[in-house]
Amino acid sequence: MNTIVSARGVNITRGKNHILHDLTFDLQPGSITGIIGPSGSGKTTLMRAIVGVQKYEGDLEVLGHQAGAKDNRGRIGYMTQAASVYEGLTVRENLTYFSQLTGEKNDTEDTIEFLGLTQQRDQKVSTLSGGQRNRVSLGAALVGKPALLVLDEPTVGLDPLTRENIWSHLRSLDTSILISSHVMDEAARCDDILLLRDGQLLAHSSPADLLVAADAPNLDAAFLNLIRKAQ
Ligand SMILES: Nc1ncnc2c1ncn2[C@@H]1O[C@H](COP(=O)(O)OP(=O)(O)OP(=O)(O)O)[C@@H](O)[C@H]1O
Ligand SMILES: [Mg+2]
Repeated sequence: MNTIVSARGVNITRGKNHILHDLTFDLQPGSITGIIGPSGSGKTTLMRAIVGVQKYEGDLEVLGHQAGAKDNRGRIGYMTQAASVYEGLTVRENLTYFSQLTGEKNDTEDTIEFLGLTQQRDQKVSTLSGGQRNRVSLGAALVGKPALLVLDEPTVGLDPLTRENIWSHLRSLDTSILISSHVMDEAARCDDILLLRDGQLLAHSSPADLLVAADAPNLDAAFLNLIRKAQ
């Protein structure tokens, strides 16, 4: 497989709204790709299509199959933007459940540790703070050791130390990762960036090349320049 995701002329309409416009790009295996863009630009919609829960037009291949194909079941770990784990189960029970879904021998204890949830491991999710719940959701996406991880704003609301732990863990994984974020220092950690605005792909390059293309001193300024130029 040469690409992990290959999009050719992908268009998505939700309700009456044309959300994503003619997206074409390839993502390489083993890389961390950031999907960056203002609120409402289509990041979640694109992720939904890639994991196979969103209809699209055009050609979208994921892990060598059409997006949504049965063959990809259990091969993609998806962390949705809103925490989506079982409130009535404990941290450990949730992670065990999600790892069993994929049939993978689980590394639940390691995952609990790097998420910083050791003390809460036997607490029900309903009794956790918002950031702790998000971390359980991230754990649920990770435990099946998927070939592709799709993480929709996984570090939102987390402190710098926890964010650092999560990033170093993601870096240590032997898997391809697609991650959306609003935080520019996170964009800078990605190998590759897809910059979206109003459902259009404004740029696809490494963070370093983006700085050059936008003639900007930092990524914040680069995004503003590119987004303004497109208006
Ligand atoms: N079910 C729906 N029906 C119609 N329009 C929708 C639907 N879901 C989302 N949209 C619209 O699609 C656009 C893209 O939404 P999406 O959730 O993909 O954005 P996003 O980039 O993830 O935003 P955020 O950063 O706020 O999470 C928005 O304008 C939104 O209003
Ligand atoms: Mg979103």
